[in-house]
Amino acid sequence: MKNMDLGLNGKVALVTGGSRGLGRESALSLAREGANVAICGRTQDTLDDTVNELKGLGGVCIGVVADVSDTSSVGYLHTAVTEALGPIDILVNNAGGTRSREDISATLIEDFKGTFDLNVFGAFELMQHVIPSMKSKGWGRIINIASIWGREYGGNISYMSAKAALIAASKHAAIALAKDGILVNSIAPGSIEHPGGSWERFQNDNTTEVVENFIKDNLPLGKFGWPEPLGDLVAYLASDRSGLITGSCIVIDGGQSVSMI
Ligand SMILES: NC(=O)c1ccc[n+]([C@@H]2O[C@H](COP(=O)([O-])OP(=O)(O)OC[C@H]3O[C@@H](n4cnc5c(N)ncnc54)[C@H](OP(=O)(O)O)[C@@H]3O)[C@@H](O)[C@H]2O)c1
Repeated sequence: MKNMDLGLNGKVALVTGGSRGLGRESALSLAREGANVAICGRTQDTLDDTVNELKGLGGVCIGVVADVSDTSSVGYLHTAVTEALGPIDILVNNAGGTRSREDISATLIEDFKGTFDLNVFGAFELMQHVIPSMKSKGWGRIINIASIWGREYGGNISYMSAKAALIAASKHAAIALAKDGILVNSIAPGSIEHPGGSWERFQNDNTTEVVENFIKDNLPLGKFGWPEPLGDLVAYLASDRSGLITGSCIVIDGGQSVSMI
């Protein structure tokens, strides 16, 4: 089969939360395609492990300890990456999660805001940091990792609201930047299992019956998702091959979501 050259050789990519899970898989896919990849996370050890894996693929790769929910950390992250690798061509806002698992009655406003800090405000700030250099090059790719639970009911109120906001911000930015050669898309994964991830914890913390019922009721493929297809989707969206795709929210969920939008 002929290779689909994604043309990412020498491009500079930043993947937030790139040390584990979906971010790690995205970073690996980009590095395999020849990009020089920076990743961030809060824990030095896991960052180091993944940076070593990335370096094994041949490119120049760095890890930066940074918390995307902290504004000062985000500014530092952008500076550290551009000083080491040059202006960022591909931004993958992947780090995310929730600060509360409660419903409307029990969620503390601090946790609701904190979930926006983690999923939306850090991503928003990083987008603002990278846009000027992308504009001057006339080329850029921004990929924001949302969730099917930002498109339809699911999870908790903080997470669902924050991911919906991230999808909306991606759409708005895409229209604003379309004429500058900068494509902005979001990805909405379903339940994807990986070592140390929330769905692995769910399976460890619940009985076989609960897990089997969850799979039967929610996962048409009869199993949890796996991260490699998401990594490949990120690499494709980062390439020139995806030139007609902007402002989209692409679902990658094995048929899990029930929304038709
Ligand atoms: N897995 C799924 O089923 C699923 C489904 C839908 C959407 N998503 C979304 O996909 C993204 C990745 O999910 P995942 O399952 O791979 O998540 P994960 O298992 O929580 O992995 C998170 C990665 O992000 C880093 N991280 C966590 N908090 C951070 C912070 N405040 N600042 C910087 N880095 C941080 C972690 O490293 P440290 O802990 O060292 O910081 C790790 O590298 C998230 O936005 C999540 O909401 C996941």
